[in-house]
Formats: sequence, structure tokens, C-alpha cells
Amino acid sequence: MILLMRSFFPLFYSHIDLAHHYWAQVIQKGDTVIDATCGNGKDTLVLAKLALEETKGHVIGLDIQKEALLATEELLRNHLPTTWIRRITLLEQSHTVFPLDGQNDPIRLVVYNLGYRPLGAKRLTTMTATTLISVEKALQLLMPGGVVSITCYPGHEEGGREELALETWLNSLNPQIFNICQHRWLNRHLSPSLILIQKLSNPVGHAADN
Ligand SMILES: C[S@@+](CC[C@H](N)C(=O)[O-])C[C@H]1O[C@@H](n2cnc3c(N)ncnc32)[C@H](O)[C@@H]1O
Repeated sequence: MILLMRSFFPLFYSHIDLAHHYWAQVIQKGDTVIDATCGNGKDTLVLAKLALEETKGHVIGLDIQKEALLATEELLRNHLPTTWIRRITLLEQSHTVFPLDGQNDPIRLVVYNLGYRPLGAKRLTTMTATTLISVEKALQLLMPGGVVSITCYPGHEEGGREELALETWLNSLNPQIFNICQHRWLNRHLSPSLILIQKLSNPVGHAADN
């Protein structure tokens, strides 16, 4: 039944479908993009298909859980040619460490799928304080026109705090530098939401402008 609905109503099926739709609008072959929360690797795979070719593009995936990176690696190996796999870097580290060592390419997209890994330990969830630090750093990494995409899960306690903290902070950002919008299901209680932040320009005096 769910499969049937998905094929009949693809536009409004889920926040993840919406996110993937927007990523396809912004990513170009050859881009460098970051999955800041690999989890089971489904989003990393979508990013790889959009950004990679045999000889160009780079996907960087991060997660604090080794199991997540192993699951991601297996999914990628099952779906992508080896030449593409070579263009993917998986790092077992927190997304608070942006910018990444030795990584100077302009970044088109940074993706956060917040919360805990599906079928994994619920206590290993993203946390409000570290998410805010990371997203702030990610906004600095973006090239003009680049996007940060965040899916939020207010249905669990930390997810609710995280979404509210993001909304409060993002409300205060300069509209001349960032376009920010949020998709929310109006008739689904505590359902996930999708936040998109597009960088229009670098703040005056930013290193990339010098
Ligand atoms: C909802 S899952 C991501 C789902 C994934 N994108 C997918 O397609 O399967 C969230 C992931 O964020 C990871 N995570 C939590 N805190 C993190 C941090 N500080 N840095 C990087 N990853 C983190 C968790 O380990 C978990 O695997």
C-alpha cells in the first residue's frame, strides 16, 4: 500500500524525497559535497549519484559510529562502480571538525539528516549543541550558491530541542547573505521538517573574497 501511494503521490511523500529533489537542483557533476551524518548511507548514495563521474567529483561522508560507516561503505560498494567509490571519502569523526584536513575545494552542498541511525542505538543521536556548531561552520565552507540541507525530527526529545534551536538561530541570519526556508507538514503532528539554507554571497571581508 505504501509503495502504491509513493508512486501515485511522489511530490509529497516524505521530507527525504523533498530533500533529494532539491539536491538534484543544486548539485552539478564534479562537485564536492558533504554528508555530515552518513547513518546507513542512503543519502550518501544519492549524493554520489548526483556529484560523481569516473574522473571528477568528491563526496565526503562523516559519522561518529564505525557501524554507520561500514553500512554506508557496503551500500556504496553494492551500487556504484569502483572508479566512483575512489572518489568517496568516509571519515569516522564528528561533524564539529569542519573544515576538514587537506580539503580546500569549494563545497556545493552539506547535508544533515539529524537524529539517530535507523535500526541503530537511539542514544547515539545528533545533539543540539554540536549540530549548531557544525551548521555554523558548514555555512562558512559553502561556495556562493551552495546549500546546507537539514532534516529535523521533533518527534523525539533531543530532536525537538535541536529543531527549535536551529529555527531560533536561523531566524536571525542576514537575508542578504542567506535564503532560508523550512518545509513542514501541517497535518502531521510532530512530523519531520526540512530546512534549506542557500548562501547568496560571502560576508564582507570573508577570506574567499580576498
Ligand atoms: C538519522 S541518521 C542519518 C541517516 C542517513 N543519512 C541515512 O541515509 O541512512 C543520523 C546519524 O548521525 C550520526 N551522528 C550523530 N552525531 C554526530 C556527529 N556529531 N557527527 C557526525 N555524525 C553524527 C549518528 O551516528 C547517525 O548515524
